[in-house]
Amino acid sequence: MSRIAYVNGRYVPHNAASVHIEDRGYQFADGVYEVCEVARGYIIDMPRHLDRLGRSLGELRISWPLGRKPLEMVLREVVRRNKVVNGLVYLQVTRGVAKRDHFFPSADTAPAIVVTAKRTDPRAASKKAAKGISVITVPENRWERVDIKSVGLLPNVLARQKAKEAGAQEAWFLDTDGTVKEGAATNAWIVTGEGVLVTRPAESGILRGITRATVMDIAARHNIKVEERAFSVEEALSAREAFITAATTVVMPVVAIDGHPVANGHPGSVALSLREAFFDVAEKTLA
Ligand code: PDD
Repeated sequence: MSRIAYVNGRYVPHNAASVHIEDRGYQFADGVYEVCEVARGYIIDMPRHLDRLGRSLGELRISWPLGRKPLEMVLREVVRRNKVVNGLVYLQVTRGVAKRDHFFPSADTAPAIVVTAKRTDPRAASKKAAKGISVITVPENRWERVDIKSVGLLPNVLARQKAKEAGAQEAWFLDTDGTVKEGAATNAWIVTGEGVLVTRPAESGILRGITRATVMDIAARHNIKVEERAFSVEEALSAREAFITAATTVVMPVVAIDGHPVANGHPGSVALSLREAFFDVAEKTLA
């Protein structure tokens, strides 16, 4: 079956889909994106993702490429047309196409939009979760506005590649004081000896993850305490558990940091039960 992409108002075969060479996303990374999980035929937490999209667009003064309701329909339609039951739907909006110039283009320049969807294998993901992943740490070298989900991801790309070359799956950015900010494409968490979930406050220095918010909802429902505060690598290594969250990984146990085991080096039960509870608590929109 051939994949279908949505590009600026048209559904086109994925392998023929393209954007203009002077799209500002291509030339300046002048755009934003969202990734939503698709699970069992539902788009997970779509309203929260679209709220965050609106915030990212607003911060960069890019207008919505189409109304929110029509955009929801496009997301669902791309998932449906690609027959994605479990996978990801990707949405990117840029400031549009204009002659290369750093200044914003004229106000009548339409933002450009692309939506794609792909399948993922939930069994492979479960296997990965049962094993847990390793992370490395890297110094923070991104701009300050990482709260905006911008397509400018070069430091994240380099950090992830470094992780891969070190035999790990994710890189955690460290603040100058040695505390953990977040992963290259995930939020970072630990579970203390008392069973408290700890993650960095989203006010500055990290992206306010949607999966992070839903894990907080699960915690509230199960009377698990959450502390939003910074934690160091040392604290993470001696914690009961560590894990990461993102639409692409849901809740994924972390079993090693920079080659050192977290606790006993096995996935923790708290992370695995949060992963288990995730689908039931998340908001589901039928695709
Ligand atoms: N990344 N932090 C960063 C830097 C991210 O890029 C992401 C998501 C997250 C987790 O956010 P959420 O729970 O809303 O997915 C945290 C996406 C999945 C990506 O770039 O592929």
